[in-house]
Amino acid sequence: MVSIDDDKRAAAVAAVAEVQDRMLVGLGTGSTAAFAIRALGERVAAGLQIRAVVTSDASGVLARDVGIEVLDFADIARVDLTIDGADEIDSRCFAIKGAGGAMLREKVVAASSARMIVIADRSKRVEQIGAAKLPIEVLPFAGSYVMRVLAGLGAAPEIRCNYRTDQDNLVIDCHFHALEDPRATAAMLAAIPGILGHGLFLDEVAAAYIATDGIVTRLERAGASA
Ligand code: A5P
Repeated sequence: MVSIDDDKRAAAVAAVAEVQDRMLVGLGTGSTAAFAIRALGERVAAGLQIRAVVTSDASGVLARDVGIEVLDFADIARVDLTIDGADEIDSRCFAIKGAGGAMLREKVVAASSARMIVIADRSKRVEQIGAAKLPIEVLPFAGSYVMRVLAGLGAAPEIRCNYRTDQDNLVIDCHFHALEDPRATAAMLAAIPGILGHGLFLDEVAAAYIATDGIVTRLERAGASA
């Protein structure tokens, strides 16, 4: 029987096959991204020459552990290829990310990338994003105010308990009753002072590798270049 972890690994290995010599690779965060980091480490050990930037301290530790050279993203303007997990992905290549709390760095690295690929097991593939909680990174100074505004918008906000991001900010997990217009929701969130980022990835994902019972299928955003 194929486990969820087997599928995470299969999707990760398929995506890592896109990495070529001399690329600067963005490494995501979470359990699926960790499979990709390990698979990339194996290719580096076999002679692949790449450098990487990471979206979290945890991914940095793992990447260095497996022999990948990690650069400081603060010095980097452009990344060739980023590989990252997701909490939900739909056929439009719209994704919700951030269950692991790294969505702000993940979005910055994704935005800087010529191509971003999501890797996922079958449980993440949905008809339309919206059932997963939507994590929002918030400046601690603005926490109470942002909670009030989000509650007023019907977002059912909950502060993630005893949690700070790598930048020492709060995460507020939201659940919108319906996410019928994700772009309108993204614009609304971006307009609230104190919100630093959120887990709606509507333009970043070029393709997704999704594994179901050991079979990996590739979903490509319409018009994206492979
Ligand atoms: C990290 O902040 C997230 O965006 C992850 O990429 C996402 O939650 C998927 O994580 P898993 O691969 O662990 O499910």
